[in-house]
Amino acid sequence: MGLESEWRQAWQEQGHAVEFDPPDHYVWWRRSYENFNEFRLFEQHWRNLTGRSFIDIGCATGDLYRWLQDRHSEFHYHGYDISASAIERARKKYPEGAFDVIEADLSDLESREPPTVLWARDVVHHQVDPLKYLSRLLRVPSEAVVLRLRTRDVGDTVADPELSCQWAYGHWVPFIVSNFDELVETIYDIAPAAKISAVKSYAPLGGSLGRFLPKECYYPETGTAETAMYISLTAGAPNDRRLEVSAREDSPLPPPVWMRGLRLLTRRIARGRG
Ligand SMILES: C[S@@+](CC[C@H](N)C(=O)[O-])C[C@H]1O[C@@H](n2cnc3c(N)ncnc32)[C@H](O)[C@@H]1O
Repeated sequence: MGLESEWRQAWQEQGHAVEFDPPDHYVWWRRSYENFNEFRLFEQHWRNLTGRSFIDIGCATGDLYRWLQDRHSEFHYHGYDISASAIERARKKYPEGAFDVIEADLSDLESREPPTVLWARDVVHHQVDPLKYLSRLLRVPSEAVVLRLRTRDVGDTVADPELSCQWAYGHWVPFIVSNFDELVETIYDIAPAAKISAVKSYAPLGGSLGRFLPKECYYPETGTAETAMYISLTAGAPNDRRLEVSAREDSPLPPPVWMRGLRLLTRRIARGRG
């Protein structure tokens, strides 16, 4: 097996389909996910879209389909993934949804009608060459791209999956932390009239979840972040870059169950006293 296919093998494992099919109740899922920056950005911007077709690249077991049906049923969803096991599970869970296995280079999409929106959450940084992949993604939709990926403010992108990777389901997958400015340049090269809204949730990315990352990704001063982007492909103007970047202070993750329980108890005790 060549290195490229070895790096993709993790997503074919049954364990991936199981992990990305959490037993959480939908209401809990919705509460958690709607707090993530990419969901918030979509909510802020979707009204400016003229079309209503939506593709989800790296859809795993398809839970975004359920959310879109619930919150924005006016959009027509199609989920794609390279993982046959994840797509099989998505089809079982949501028989009325559209899900297909796709080639890793997205070549299958070339002959299809361009969708309005392309969504790719936690997919770009798992590519061997994230900027090249992002360039491909940007050419697919007609109006907008929504992403979550990993960025660093300081230092060059270490674009070598042997030095920047994550252990997943018994395989190494690339985990490339892109320099934010390089990322922005790539976007404007492909889409000079883009308007980019980016929200960064800063956190050292090294040291957790089986990641083998360059040492700087452990240091707060590198400014590594989970970064969400809403890229409107036509809302700006060439030579007049419109780039809004903000940092989110609170954690996008909801507080753990024990903390919520404690808060509830404290409120009840306070009410009892009052
Ligand atoms: C970390 S998971 C994220 C799943 C989902 N988007 C989410 O946010 O929960 C990455 C997914 O992207 C898929 N993937 C990886 N490379 C891909 C590629 N080149 N094209 C399409 N899907 C890809 C994997 O199979 C996996 O299901």
